[in-house]
Amino acid sequence: MATAYDAPTAEIVDRAGVDIALVGDSLGNTTLGYETTLSVTVDDIARHVGSVVRATEDALVVADMPFLSFGVSEAESVRNAGRMLKEEGAEAVKLECGPHTVGLTERLVELGIPVMAHLGLTPQRVNEYGGYPRQGTGEAAAAEILELANAHEAAGAFSLVLEHVPANLARAVTEAIEIPTIGIGAGPDCDGQVLVFHDIVGLSEWTPSFSKTYGNVRAEMEHALDAYVEEVRSGEFPAPEHSHEAEELDDLDSFY
Ligand code: KIV
Repeated sequence: MATAYDAPTAEIVDRAGVDIALVGDSLGNTTLGYETTLSVTVDDIARHVGSVVRATEDALVVADMPFLSFGVSEAESVRNAGRMLKEEGAEAVKLECGPHTVGLTERLVELGIPVMAHLGLTPQRVNEYGGYPRQGTGEAAAAEILELANAHEAAGAFSLVLEHVPANLARAVTEAIEIPTIGIGAGPDCDGQVLVFHDIVGLSEWTPSFSKTYGNVRAEMEHALDAYVEEVRSGEFPAPEHSHEAEELDDLDSFY
């Protein structure tokens, strides 16, 4: 799985054969310029899900439900999640989970809205954590993640993201449940992996320690923009091949 936020990133993800394109609420950081994901709205996610769906042929498109788009009331949660499938063409939603999302997962699945659960570090809780610390490190915390993984599987979730948890905990969860686990900062033993698109290609200004960068797209973009600015300032661009003259206007000077 990789995140995708718009048509070009979705085309690239899909072309690479990535199985799932996640329209993550990391959209807030990567694309909308927010420091956290908390300000991302249902409208933001919906607009970006639509563009990803239109550009994707094979990958399953999952819409990440933003902060407080679920959990305020069941009716509102169902409407917000349903909108991603009904109006934008997503095939599933992802919820940052806790004990409060077990019942909601069951209800969404009952209504035909497939749910990807997300446990471990759930960035929408940044204010509660005071940052983005590792999760599930103590015995009690690890036991709670295992219990919640089981509960969400029993509620009908079709997969589970495990973020920034010890590799041995991710391994234990992966062995304990039937649905696929998808790890980010959770070691090699999950069934799948997920990374943020901008981290993969080298567009992010900062990447977490558990991420890996495979390109240097930011440097390439900077290089292109620097060259453009230089050529416009020097008059090198536009060259004759970038413009045209209209013969019928040859006498234009005589108009004045
Ligand atoms: O929002 C996001 O990009 C995510 C993934 C990192 C799992 O939730």
